[in-house]
Amino acid sequence: MKKIAYKNCGILIIGSGIGALSVSSELCKFHKKVTVITKGLRKACNSSLAQGGISVALSENDSAKLHFEDTMEAGCNLNDADAVMKLVSEAPQVILDFIKSGMEFDRDENGALCFGREGAHRINRIVHAGGDRTGLRVVEQLLRNITSDVTIEQNEMALELIARDGKCAGVLARNSKTGEITAYKADCTILATGGIGQLYPSTSNDATITGDGIAMAYRAGCRLKNLEFIQFHPTMLTIDGKAYGLVSEAVRGAGGVLINDRGDKIMENVHPMKDLAPRDVVAREVYAHYLKGEKIYLDISAIEDFSEKFPTVTQICEEHGADIKSGKIPVAPGAHFHMGGVEATTEGITNIEGLFAVGETACTGVHGANRLASNSLLEGLVFGKLLADYIVNNPQKGADITPEIPETRLGKLPSKAEIQSKMMEFLGIVRHSEDMKKAIGWFEQFSPDGKFGRIDVVNTDDESIEIYNMLTTGWLIAKAAAERKESVGAHYVE
Ligand code: SIN
Repeated sequence: MKKIAYKNCGILIIGSGIGALSVSSELCKFHKKVTVITKGLRKACNSSLAQGGISVALSENDSAKLHFEDTMEAGCNLNDADAVMKLVSEAPQVILDFIKSGMEFDRDENGALCFGREGAHRINRIVHAGGDRTGLRVVEQLLRNITSDVTIEQNEMALELIARDGKCAGVLARNSKTGEITAYKADCTILATGGIGQLYPSTSNDATITGDGIAMAYRAGCRLKNLEFIQFHPTMLTIDGKAYGLVSEAVRGAGGVLINDRGDKIMENVHPMKDLAPRDVVAREVYAHYLKGEKIYLDISAIEDFSEKFPTVTQICEEHGADIKSGKIPVAPGAHFHMGGVEATTEGITNIEGLFAVGETACTGVHGANRLASNSLLEGLVFGKLLADYIVNNPQKGADITPEIPETRLGKLPSKAEIQSKMMEFLGIVRHSEDMKKAIGWFEQFSPDGKFGRIDVVNTDDESIEIYNMLTTGWLIAKAAAERKESVGAHYVE
């Protein structure tokens, strides 16, 4: 048995994106001690890669009601309406407070906030920073807002929640540099591990995003929800079939138009909102053309000062040899956001005592079957604050649980690339009932007990644990997809 070090850390957060940092910075205001553990470096998260911005009803012609309606419409009305109302009505004050704390969003020459536009928004309501560097700027500001009460431990891979009988008391983690294993004992454990983008071959997500949170929560007995709803972003820079990063929807909001190789506008007769239709609709249309062997481009020729407005997109294009001076960026869809996840209230409460979830890991039902653009950074900020408030007002007492490691070892595993290819084949943008059933069987062959239970994480290497988590999450998604009979939003069944 390997030696395990013990650390008592009060409040523990697993993950370092906007959800984690929002909770941390709010808890700092109450001088709460927080430990954040993250698998890679602290800025290695999806939040840092987010481009478009944050939706908020702050412009003159806007209201929480309009923001609510757009969110519900994009989500195919499968959203939890109370959660949506909470999100959109808390949003203006949360953003104004964030600005007061030092966050600088882009402003016009008169000093007024600039509001951009993205898909399925009827009006311009997206605040952004550094053009399309919003996510990074938000993460940097939140890091500035936290105090020495917050300790961030990098390169700590969460292996397994310390949980038993519906209670959670922390996590077992391994440092990928030293191999040292630590049991982080906590009164309150918060899952903020992001989504599942790396389960697919093309994704906008960070390399660390392999569905670990969902897999660990499942093994701890946590309820999961809406796992079948996976959002594909229509425009990833794609060259020779390989994706190289996001081309923000804000580019279409600024006048970019999707065209095929003949120059036809592909969204023209598909939806009344054309290129700014809900993301699931646009992704399916781009994908349909792509399958026919057509090349799809984002025509940016009508956008003035493109490089100033979109420095990140410009940089990604330059790095990968896409010439923006040609006025056309080659694009294809890629996995982007998971609407499903760990079932949680807007305060992050799960069915496991002592375990909370926030950000993309959580499923509060706020996004329904398809998330409205730029509601995800918002979710991290608003629900992160609600979770912090809940913890302050309801001090938690950790359960007394000793980590138990079963002896179950893994057999031969597939490669990550094999899992990604099966996910795209069986559970991609367009799905078929037979494929979903096939997927369940394909995943199950790699489970030692047929139900992806706990394994000996201490004697299994990090790469194999990631693969096991990907298989677990893929299997859970396949089962959820097979169970949903209707074709709706991002779960499109042909
Ligand atoms: C984008 O910039 O297109 C992504 C925005 C989002 O996912 O909300």
